[in-house]
Amino acid sequence: MNYRLLGKTGIRVSELCLGTMTFGNEADRTTSFRIMDRFSDDGGNFVDTADIYNKGKSEEILGEWLKTRNREDFIIATKVRFRSGNGPNGIGLTRKHILHSIEKSLERLGTDYVDLLQVHAWDPLTPLEETMSALNSLVQNGKVRYIGASNFRGWQLALSLGISRSRGYAEFVSIQPQYSLLCRSTEFELIPLSMHENISVLPWSPLKGGLLSGKYSRDAGNMPEDSRIGRMLNRGGSQVFGINEEYTWKVINSLKDVAGAINRTPSQVALNWLLNREGVTSPIIGARNIAQLEDNLASTGWTLNKSDMDYLDSASKFFVTYPYDEESDNQQKDGRIP
Ligand SMILES: NC(=O)c1ccc[n+]([C@@H]2O[C@H](COP(=O)([O-])OP(=O)(O)OC[C@H]3O[C@@H](n4cnc5c(N)ncnc54)[C@H](OP(=O)(O)O)[C@@H]3O)[C@@H](O)[C@H]2O)c1
Repeated sequence: MNYRLLGKTGIRVSELCLGTMTFGNEADRTTSFRIMDRFSDDGGNFVDTADIYNKGKSEEILGEWLKTRNREDFIIATKVRFRSGNGPNGIGLTRKHILHSIEKSLERLGTDYVDLLQVHAWDPLTPLEETMSALNSLVQNGKVRYIGASNFRGWQLALSLGISRSRGYAEFVSIQPQYSLLCRSTEFELIPLSMHENISVLPWSPLKGGLLSGKYSRDAGNMPEDSRIGRMLNRGGSQVFGINEEYTWKVINSLKDVAGAINRTPSQVALNWLLNREGVTSPIIGARNIAQLEDNLASTGWTLNKSDMDYLDSASKFFVTYPYDEESDNQQKDGRIP
């Protein structure tokens, strides 16, 4: 496992972050412990959870596991924003809800501080100044070491940075967007902004919920029942994760071409592609058993060659329009970048 810098902090995080959304749901306590053991034995030190994952069970299991190790050795990231309390104020990015949620997270995690507190999504009701001030006070009192954002649009992230900077508050050091071979719109604004500002990009759903593991086939009747998408279809979903789109299967088939040619699994290739993308710090891998974790961990320690990267880039090329198209790009560089 290699380590990369978390934004402009001096903190070194493993190049794969372990997502714990399955803990307390698809993965019971014993399996979750085994997943954590295996990840940390491999050198993984970066773990992502949220106050709302499985009604707090994910944080609880992670907290119990941390007692078996030296807490200081891990970079623990959690989140706040969605409903974690009761009534009209048990949700959102108000000072009240942020302070309430972090206390509960610390209790469940059995720790005095989290390394990274991320706002889970934009809150259209709370003034951004209030949110950034509440987050800053948590950094000042030490309950939170660094702050990050998730699911923000480019302008929302830029605005947040501007407020922090003008007031001397702690700034976001990371962004956690959805990003994979099947979700490249993140490249429009978030990646260039993050690179410009030296903010870490931590992609969630790097396998698009398991689609990029290659275990699904186009025939909906053929979806493995014991899988995330199979379960969603059984619950009555139909258009989940773009499974009816031509584009989705074109990307998956190209991924399988590359995987077959280099004797790797589609998951390993999809994760390695992300690890090589500009601006990406640590994809957040998800697993519900050891076999999946081991498959995903084997995405490190090697690099896709340029022709395979180009092949995958071109298969997953998406429609871009003004002001992100090539003409606009050339206009911006005109006479400035050789
Ligand atoms: N900020 C946000 O809004 C947000 C949203 C979502 C996730 N996240 C974070 O990102 C983490 C990862 O997200 P994700 O779980 O959606 O990631 P993902 O890698 O896209 O999907 C993980 C799921 O795919 C299947 N899978 C994983 N590896 C596999 C393999 N090697 N072979 C076959 N199937 C495999 C498993 O589901 P089945 O076996 O059940 O099919 C697993 O639970 C989460 O744990 C969470 O920390 C954040």
